[in-house]
Amino acid sequence: MAIQWFPGHMNKARKDVSERLKDIDVVIEMLDARLPASSANPMLARMAKGKPRLMLLNKQDLADPAVTEQWLAWYRAKKQTEALGMDAGERAPAQRLIAACRALAPNRGGLEKPLRVLICGIPNVGKSTLINSMSSRKIAKTGNMPGVTKNEQRIILADDFELYDTPGMLWPKIEVEEGGYNLAASGAVGRNAMDEEEVALELLKYLLVHYRAELAARYKLDEEELDGAQDWQALERIGKRRGAVLSGGRINMQKAAEIVLTDFRDGQTGRITLERPEEWAKWEKRAKEIAAQRAAEREAREQEKASRKGSR
Ligand code: G4P
Repeated sequence: MAIQWFPGHMNKARKDVSERLKDIDVVIEMLDARLPASSANPMLARMAKGKPRLMLLNKQDLADPAVTEQWLAWYRAKKQTEALGMDAGERAPAQRLIAACRALAPNRGGLEKPLRVLICGIPNVGKSTLINSMSSRKIAKTGNMPGVTKNEQRIILADDFELYDTPGMLWPKIEVEEGGYNLAASGAVGRNAMDEEEVALELLKYLLVHYRAELAARYKLDEEELDGAQDWQALERIGKRRGAVLSGGRINMQKAAEIVLTDFRDGQTGRITLERPEEWAKWEKRAKEIAAQRAAEREAREQEKASRKGSR
């Protein structure tokens, strides 16, 4: 099962964002540092093409620091793009953020040409936490402000620096299957849209390769025994260790899955990142190949249908 979310009001959000983008100088995209590429909005990337971008890898306190460095370098190598690692523990994030945006749009600034910045991010990525920490002074709740749509916030971070916060814009289809699982593991996907056991198994599959020591330490398992173990075997062992056992001694896999997911989300399993740039490139390539194959199959079916109709 591939993970999907059910974005409500998607078209409305898309329209609001594209309207706002017209007079935006820099787009900030907040990403989850544990899954930077999976949490990036491909639709936003297309809509904001040509605009300078600042990628904020938030929740870096939960992510693997060495892999965060890889991602920062990967983003910085892109055109007109800056990337910063961040977390809610930073006491005055506004300064760093403003400086990075100013460097991306050096021709803007001063009261005549205020720098206008849009901030986007998937739900739960930490956008409100960041905005609240930066804007103790002036949050302009809008609705009564010309040129600002309802539900949008304009935050004045400096006299010539305006930050626009438009409510979440999700994208219609999660194209990379691994990305769907990573979003689900992080808690970004509603519980109803996923099978927790399946998501936990995918998570364990990754952890068994990249974070076996952390897994063993968290659940007091023997690291050597985990070497070569299947994801379901690891889940069983964790369930047993944590007393997730049904009558008759069977392991309660659902309960065990919940434990694994909660621990990961809370950072209890350690500082973990679920994707590396080179892995993501491979996953994305495969997803594109599968999509192209499906499109070709669809096309062939359509043609066959049309030719059957024609021969009647
Ligand atoms: P959003 O506006 O993007 O939807 O996210 P929000 O700021 O509400 O943050 C979502 C959760 O993530 C909050 O946890 C918040 O405390 C946590 N969070 C935000 N930034 C960071 C960070 O840099 N590091 C860590 N570790 N956590 C961060 P919460 O209020 O406990 O909500 P929840 O966990 O019950 O969803």
